[in-house]
Amino acid sequence: MFTLSHRVGVLTVMVILLTAVTPGSGQLPRLDELMQQKLDHTQRLLEAVVLRQHITVEREARALLLLSDATTWTSLQSDEYMRYAFDFQDTAEELAESARRGDDDGVALAFSELVLGCGDCHAYVGREDYQPSPRRPAGR
Ligand code: HEC
Repeated sequence: MFTLSHRVGVLTVMVILLTAVTPGSGQLPRLDELMQQKLDHTQRLLEAVVLRQHITVEREARALLLLSDATTWTSLQSDEYMRYAFDFQDTAEELAESARRGDDDGVALAFSELVLGCGDCHAYVGREDYQPSPRRPAGR
């Protein structure tokens, strides 16, 4: 019995690993695609923040939170990278909560902090003055 469950365990791990490393398998979203989606949500956020649309701000901030969570499953997982990601998620949470309370000052503050957080992490990963190319392979 031990042998059987042991084998099942090994098989499961192998399947997970294969899914994770197979390019274009569709199992893991590409980091650059996730980031493009982040940009879309951030642009929508800007509009909602300046027009004081609290429901939209909360929704977009929560979408960013989920997206950022998804990026932590990709290749870059140093402690420092995770710190930038978690800080970013805390700020997105703060933004969503401020919007829920209808706290416009809190929204403005958290939004600025959020945008600073994008640039801080990009500087950390060496993506300053970085030109995105749709043809770059995943996981870099
Ligand atoms: C915790 C780190 C981190 C945070 C926070 C972060 N990014 Fe990124 N971002 C990256 C990394 C790493 C790449 C490079 C991805 C690649 O080359 O595949 C990147 C690349 C990008 C790109 C270029 C994607 C492409 O097409 O190549 C855009 C756009 C982007 N990020 C937008 C954002 C926005 C907007 C935010 C904030 C709302 C944000 N990012 C926050 C790590 C981060």
